[in-house]
Amino acid sequence: PINPQDIGKQKAGAAAAELIKEGMVIGLGTGSTAKRLIEALGERVKNGLHIVGAVPSSDETAAYAAQYNIPITNLDEHPELDIYIDGADEIDPQLRLIKGAGGALLREKIVATAAKRFVVIADPSKKVEQLGHKYPLPVEVVPLAVTPVKNRLARLGAQVAIRERNGQKFYTDSHNLVIDCTFPEGITDPTALDATIHSIPGVIETGLFINLAKQIIIGKPDGVEIYPQ
Ligand code: A5P
Repeated sequence: PINPQDIGKQKAGAAAAELIKEGMVIGLGTGSTAKRLIEALGERVKNGLHIVGAVPSSDETAAYAAQYNIPITNLDEHPELDIYIDGADEIDPQLRLIKGAGGALLREKIVATAAKRFVVIADPSKKVEQLGHKYPLPVEVVPLAVTPVKNRLARLGAQVAIRERNGQKFYTDSHNLVIDCTFPEGITDPTALDATIHSIPGVIETGLFINLAKQIIIGKPDGVEIYPQ
């Protein structure tokens, strides 16, 4: 890594890999920070650490973990995980998160919920006082409902955009669309907003992760900070 942010991600990933113990079933997040975790875990597996299996939160993570000879499993084989480790787009002081910039929010939330402990790994840029100022809130939607849901979200005060990638509509691993919602004032009540959005038919999931993360590991070039200890 060349810049401080990348070094921080690597430190956070390496510190989180140390939380994984012999015989655990784990969940693996998605994104650039989660990749640093997978690399560090791969090194430990190469050196003889035996884990029962890892449930990936995206096809991308499954492929990356396989490159490091990390055994892949699923929630049918292992519905309860010892630990889930993943990055985030924004983290507030109450450990509430916005996730889904990479589009993996649905599987990430399912895997996070299956774990006894969810640890977030990030560089310091992810810490915010209030959610919703840096990243839009992603809402995953059944394709046939995308226009009515978009209109409903706009009526809630969001600036809405159907996510595209390379000029094409972006489809998630579960074949749904994502509506990115920007709230000009930020998100004042994440719990209420999440409930309201979930009540709209056609909405599958939101990128608000509330009461899920237990701990965050912030990586900096000179080491890691862990909250709460
Ligand atoms: C994937 O959908 C996201 O939720 C990621 O976990 C998030 O975007 C963090 O990615 P980085 O570690 O690349 O910032």
